[in-house]
Amino acid sequence: MPSFSKSISLGKELKIADEEFKLLRDFIYAKSGIWIAENRKYLLENRLANRIRLLNLKSYGEYFYFLQYDPRREVELNRLFESVTTNETSFYRNPPQLKVFQDKVLPEIIAAQRAAGQKTLRFWSAGCSTGEEPYTLAIILNEVLKGELAQWNVRITAHDLSEAVLASAREGVYNEYTLRTTPRDIIARYFIPESGRFRLKPELKRLVQYSQLNLSDRELLKRVERSHVVFCRNVIIYFDDVVKRQVIGSFYDNLLPGGYLLIGHSESLHNLSRAFKPVHHPGAIIYRKEE
Ligand SMILES: C[S@@+](CC[C@H](N)C(=O)[O-])C[C@H]1O[C@@H](n2cnc3c(N)ncnc32)[C@H](O)[C@@H]1O
Repeated sequence: MPSFSKSISLGKELKIADEEFKLLRDFIYAKSGIWIAENRKYLLENRLANRIRLLNLKSYGEYFYFLQYDPRREVELNRLFESVTTNETSFYRNPPQLKVFQDKVLPEIIAAQRAAGQKTLRFWSAGCSTGEEPYTLAIILNEVLKGELAQWNVRITAHDLSEAVLASAREGVYNEYTLRTTPRDIIARYFIPESGRFRLKPELKRLVQYSQLNLSDRELLKRVERSHVVFCRNVIIYFDDVVKRQVIGSFYDNLLPGGYLLIGHSESLHNLSRAFKPVHHPGAIIYRKEE
């Protein structure tokens, strides 16, 4: 093994050397598009020290080597992704934007499909974390289509980089905290209480299909079924501008004409794409792919 052991062990704290930081930062970027700026070096230190200890390694350099050559590297790559991202999410996150989705976007798309004699609806939750976002979409769809939902061919495709969050999403059981901004009547209608937790009803769960996908992999993104609406909220913040532009371009190509891209409250397409038409609503800007 090359002598990477540059980390300095200060008491119990394992410090990352500049060279090790650069190697790991570039490795993470190449594998996921996630960019860790110099001033967030502490993030790698804080989050990876534990992995290094658990694997009985001595330094970040050894960890870098492990990620490339150890037989367990695929599993560890997932752990690494989980260490450098936050999976924070909740049901009914950003209610003003979801109100626009429920009151304007969905009725418009449903009316257009009806006019075309079609009953297909496709949604994509890109960076879905533990499932709260795609399941919220499933609930809203049920609220809008009501008894008619069963006659429509609906699919919500949900992707994330992390296998761990996908496993939890597939389970579909949630605590009260993640439902904190969800209306009480919605909880009563769509969840089954289970030992202090809440299980999403199977008829809604069925609408969502999960799989692992790396959003920075342009070729894989081309294979995703075309969508009426893409939700990619609070995900592009992890990427640098090169990967942001590439991912937004892939969403544009994926969207059906007249479709919409919905991004996070604190995110914007400014300087990233001029292809979309921003549509302003109270409390939310959404992005339309013109027909
Ligand atoms: C903060 S969560 C946002 C979840 C949800 N969209 C929301 O707004 O509540 C960000 C998610 O993006 C995922 N993510 C980060 N980089 C990714 C990549 N390159 N490909 C796919 N998912 C990624 C993370 O694993 C994490 O689950």
